[in-house]
Amino acid sequence: MYDFDEIVNRRGTGSYKWDSQPPAGVSGDDVIPLWVADMDFKAAPFIVDALRKRVEHGVFGYVKVPDSYYDAVIDWFSCRHGWNIKKEWILYTTGVVPALSAVIKAFCKPSDKVIVQTPVFNCFFSSIRNNGCEILDVPLLYNDRTYSFDYEGLERACADPKTRILLLCNPHNPAGRVWRKEELARVGEIARRHGVVVVSDEIHCEIVMPGYRFVPFATVSEADQSNCITLCSPSKSFNIAGLQIANIVTDNADWLRHIDRAVNDNEICDVNPFGVVALQAAYSEQGARWLEDLNEYIFSNFMLLKEKITDFPVCKLEGTYLAWIDVNCLGMPSEQMEEELLRGEKVWINAGSMYGTEGFIRVNLACPRTMLSEGLERLRRGLASLAAAFRK
Ligand SMILES: Cc1ncc(COP(=O)(O)O)c(C=O)c1O
Repeated sequence: MYDFDEIVNRRGTGSYKWDSQPPAGVSGDDVIPLWVADMDFKAAPFIVDALRKRVEHGVFGYVKVPDSYYDAVIDWFSCRHGWNIKKEWILYTTGVVPALSAVIKAFCKPSDKVIVQTPVFNCFFSSIRNNGCEILDVPLLYNDRTYSFDYEGLERACADPKTRILLLCNPHNPAGRVWRKEELARVGEIARRHGVVVVSDEIHCEIVMPGYRFVPFATVSEADQSNCITLCSPSKSFNIAGLQIANIVTDNADWLRHIDRAVNDNEICDVNPFGVVALQAAYSEQGARWLEDLNEYIFSNFMLLKEKITDFPVCKLEGTYLAWIDVNCLGMPSEQMEEELLRGEKVWINAGSMYGTEGFIRVNLACPRTMLSEGLERLRRGLASLAAAFRK
C-alpha cells in the first residue's frame, strides 16, 4: 500500500488550493481547503523518479513528443479500459480545458449551442462562453441521492438546429456518477440521430469506487466511437495537473485536422517535457497498482465522510474524489454557505452554484485521512450551526 497518510505541507508552494486568499476576510493560515480538485498526496514515487531523471538532464528545450508517449496512451486504454486507439487518432495538448475550448472552436460558430448537464464542472460554462457560443443546459435528474440523464430533455436540445455538441462528463464531476454502458448508449443514439457530436470529458476515468466500472464513451459502439471526441489526461488521477498534459482522441481524421487547426490557432500545441515524461510513467503497470491503492483510500475517505455527515443526504459516489452533499434543507445560497463555513469553522468547500446548481456543496476527499477527519469535523459543526440558524 502506498502511503497516502503522509501530510505534505503545500503552503508556500504556489498551490492554488492552499495559497489562495479565502474570501470573507478569513485568514488563510489555518483553513483546511477541501475545495479545488487536486489531491494533497505526493505523486507516485515512480513518477517523481522519472521527473527527477528528466530534471537532472538539465536542458528543457522545445519538445518533440516521442512514439513511446503514444504507445503508453494506446497500451493503457487498451489494457485497462478495453478501448483500442490508433496513434493517428491522438492529438496532445496542454490540458483538458484547453482541449475542450479548441474542440468547441473547431465545431461551432458563434451563437451555436453546446449541451451541458448541470451540476457540472464550471469550466464547461466558461469554455463555451469564451468561444461566443450558447450554453444549452439539460440538467441531470436528481432522485434519491443520485443523478440520471434527462433523455427527453436531451432529445429536445439535440433537435435544436443550432446545437452542435453534446458535452458529457464521464465520470461526472460533481454528481459522482460513472455512467453505465446502457445510459451512454441512449445518449449516443439521441446525439447521432440529430447529427450532434458527443464530446466526452473523461479526465476522472481512473477514480472509480468499488463495484463500478468506467466505460469510455467510444467503446459503447462503433457508431458512437465515430461520433465522438474524447478528452483525457492522467492529470487528475495521478495528481500531476500542474504539468499540463492531455489528449484529444477521435477516429475521424477530418475532425482531428480541424481540431488540430484550432489547437494551433489557440497556441496550445506545445507541451512541456515534464508532462510528457510523467504521462509515460503514470500509464504503466506500476501506475495501475498505485491507482488501486488510491481508489481504496478514497473510498475509505468517503466512508468517513458518510460517518461524520449524517444530518444531510450525501450523494452516492461511484467515481471521482469529489463528494456532493445535499444541503437544500438549509434554504440558503450555497455561496453564502461557503463563506459562513470559512468564517465560522475555517473549512473551505465549493458552493454548488459554481456548478450551476443551488442547494449542494462539493467536498474534495483526496487528502490524508487525519486532515480530512479534522476538515469534516469542522464541516459537521458548521453545518449544524447553520441548520440551527437557517433550516427551512
Ligand atoms: C471534468 C473536468 N475536466 C477538466 C478538468 C481540468 O482539466 P485540465 O486541468 O487538464 O485543464 C477538471 C478539473 O477539475 C474536471 O473536473
